Amino acid sequence: MNILIKNVAAFLPTGEVATKNIFIERNKIAGIYDALPVDFKVDTIIDGTGKFAVPGLINAHTHASMTLLRSYADDMALMPWLTEKIWPVEDKMTADDLYWGAMLAAIEMIKSGTTAFADMYGPFVDSIAKAVIDSGLRASLARGIVAVAPGAYEKLEDSVRLYNTYNNAENGRLTVMLSPHSLYTCPPEFLKKMADTASKIGAEIHTHMSETEVEVSDCLKNYGKRPFAHVESTGIFDNGTLAAHGVHLNDEDIEIIKKHNIRIVHNPGSNLKLASGIAPVTRLLNEGVTVALGTDGASSNNNLDMLEEMRLAALLGKVESKNPEAVPALTAIKMATENGAVAAGLKDVGKLEAGYKADITLYDMRGANWRPRFNPLSLLVYSANAGDTDTVIVDGKILMDNKNLMTIDEERVYFEVEKAVERLIG
Ligand code: NI
Repeated sequence: MNILIKNVAAFLPTGEVATKNIFIERNKIAGIYDALPVDFKVDTIIDGTGKFAVPGLINAHTHASMTLLRSYADDMALMPWLTEKIWPVEDKMTADDLYWGAMLAAIEMIKSGTTAFADMYGPFVDSIAKAVIDSGLRASLARGIVAVAPGAYEKLEDSVRLYNTYNNAENGRLTVMLSPHSLYTCPPEFLKKMADTASKIGAEIHTHMSETEVEVSDCLKNYGKRPFAHVESTGIFDNGTLAAHGVHLNDEDIEIIKKHNIRIVHNPGSNLKLASGIAPVTRLLNEGVTVALGTDGASSNNNLDMLEEMRLAALLGKVESKNPEAVPALTAIKMATENGAVAAGLKDVGKLEAGYKADITLYDMRGANWRPRFNPLSLLVYSANAGDTDTVIVDGKILMDNKNLMTIDEERVYFEVEKAVERLIG
């Protein structure tokens, strides 16, 4: 199907915003024109008047099905929150639960303009893959392995199966990574085995790194090294790594990050809520590190709204560096789009440019919070909210049209989620 988005304010890779006509041919952006091309054949025309087109937002670290645990346990420290509340309920979750949790996440993501996400969860990753296939979103999936629990090596075998089944499936909409949950839940011999497996099959890694001060001090105590040096010694960083958090970093850590081109995913909402600290985003960006943005799971955020993460990243970056010029709106948007694509290992995604995949979000600029319109980039980061999301296109398919979901039966999802939660928590 070919789509023309007519007369839309478009965020271009140069950082400029200009009124354009975006022509989508099948799953790709065929061209971005000032005037309509004479020889185009089009099936659908979207009137972009009063709308702002941006590359679809990329949530580069989340646990989608954790929507089921939203508001179940809040205002706790990370470890008691995980061990006393989250993990016991997760142990009871079925394949169906993970599917409906991921569908609930898909609704929320599409409705706030997110077109792709990097997920870490399990054990039933096939259910999450099905939710991605059904919803039309793009995703990098990974079975997060807590190797101190029984069956770690079988779970790694299953991760290889998932890689062989889903990597590059659905016209490239699905990709798969291997995922050790963290260094504090995976002993070094397991990390070594996973590193070997990843290099054998060519998979990248998605993990949590240096999230809390306790993680750093425990790692020093147990292994005599800081987290990045310890994990580096296992070979995990040799195959391409997406590392969520990176809150507590020193010079040595940053050198390791640069040496292995590790992509850091900043999760400002989750770091604030769990009081983990503030990641040194400005320094990382200045040193040329790819920094993307993620929401983390809905139970530690508590939403999957990337507009909010962009705003928090911009605000926290300023406070952290005591500099109001730090993390300007343009940088925040790039973190949520092109850097997100790099972090999640997505090719030809994250820019409005000919040849890129047609993952596009249109925000409605007609509301009061978008007036006057001196600077659409500022408006998107500092003033927009999820309700302004108007149209969402992924891989050339319209997932939301004029605020209507096209691929998901919303009421059915809410019904199934209620049923699952009743059984799990009651
Ligand atoms: Ni996480």
